[in-house]
Amino acid sequence: MVSRPSSNLPPGIPVENSNQRQLLELIGRIGMRLGTRTFLVGGPVRDMMLGHASPDLDVAVESSSRRFGRTIAHELGGRFLYHRRFMTGTVTLSDSSHVDITQTRTEEYPRPAVLPSVKPATIDEDLVRRDFTINAMALELTPRAFGRIIDPHSGRADLSGHLVRVLHDRSFVDDPTRVFRCIRFAVRLGFEIEPRTLELMRQAIVDRYPALLTPERILYELRLICAEPLVLQMVEALVREKVFEAAFLPDGDGQPGHLLPDLARLVQGRATPDLLFIYLLSTLPVSERFPIRREERDAADAVNRFGPTRARLARARRRSTTYRLLRPIPEPALRILALLESGAAGARIADYLGNLCSVKTEITGRDLRALGLEPGPRYRQTLDRLLCARLDGRTRTREDELALCRRLLRRVKS
Ligand code: CTP
Repeated sequence: MVSRPSSNLPPGIPVENSNQRQLLELIGRIGMRLGTRTFLVGGPVRDMMLGHASPDLDVAVESSSRRFGRTIAHELGGRFLYHRRFMTGTVTLSDSSHVDITQTRTEEYPRPAVLPSVKPATIDEDLVRRDFTINAMALELTPRAFGRIIDPHSGRADLSGHLVRVLHDRSFVDDPTRVFRCIRFAVRLGFEIEPRTLELMRQAIVDRYPALLTPERILYELRLICAEPLVLQMVEALVREKVFEAAFLPDGDGQPGHLLPDLARLVQGRATPDLLFIYLLSTLPVSERFPIRREERDAADAVNRFGPTRARLARARRRSTTYRLLRPIPEPALRILALLESGAAGARIADYLGNLCSVKTEITGRDLRALGLEPGPRYRQTLDRLLCARLDGRTRTREDELALCRRLLRRVKS
């Protein structure tokens, strides 16, 4: 059993995780030695108050985050990576958990949807710049005030009231990624979007502020959503609120009608976040300027172009035909299609992934050379024919393959 710690944390903060508590205390002590106040901020405070585990920690310091991060990494035996532009850094600990370190700052948005310029500031100023009241609380780590909650925007009340509420009217305009975030937090936590916040969010959508974001930032938000257990409900909300239209689509274009039923099948079939993201991409007009990995783009295209193959696959009598039709399709696309396709096509994709794709011939190029075949294109053709024979059950052993190979070579010679 874990003993209850002696210091008086406020009610609602779970302190059962004694390792994490020790880590937080240590961070506070290191801060004091370096002459700075330290705070746990943002998501982990929200999650701890809700009684949810928060493996990664966000720590804010009222001094150089670089110096602080380096010291933490040195004393805890972790690695520190610093991003100068944002005055933030990440310490990766030996158990692969992270402590993100930021310097408390104000943010100024020169134009809607661009990244803000940041200036060092106090914790109170830092909390004002944040997205939602439930994310704008801090828990002090400085030893003499350890556990003190700083909650100038009534985040705790909104947590109890189950509300996602912005701090000010320009929040979605300054940073339209908050449209995605608002939906993500509301769905994840089962909260309502507070009425004025909902009005502001809808206005930002009507005014198409999400379209001003860089593609990187939109895709980042979609990746986060794809990694959530309630991804389907989140995408439903994005569709309902017409966020995709506001972020990507030309006027008047909507999402394809099959998006939600398909996504439901994928979620039910336990598709991984990567596959869900590729599927989402396949329904969006993502142009070349979108920074997507080549494999993801190819897989999304293959999902989109599957129509003609579907009909041929349904007619395929031999397993070698299935193999030939599916071999050029990237594996992630096949994993998606295996969950989406029903009937003969679906069964054949499953057969390909489960069996056919790993079938190999027993004889190799070396055997062909021993049989007198000169290296060249005929090598590949012969091996392909041998593979088809094995897929269709016409050969089962190495001897069968050698016999077939001899027949093929005799035919070539004659
Ligand atoms: N934040 C913000 N506006 C954004 C992104 C982040 O104000 N567009 C602030 C919020 O205070 C947020 C904190 O930065 O809590 C950390 O951001 P992030 O790690 O993205 O969010 P978490 O709240 O930690 O959410 P999650 O549980 O999904 O990690």
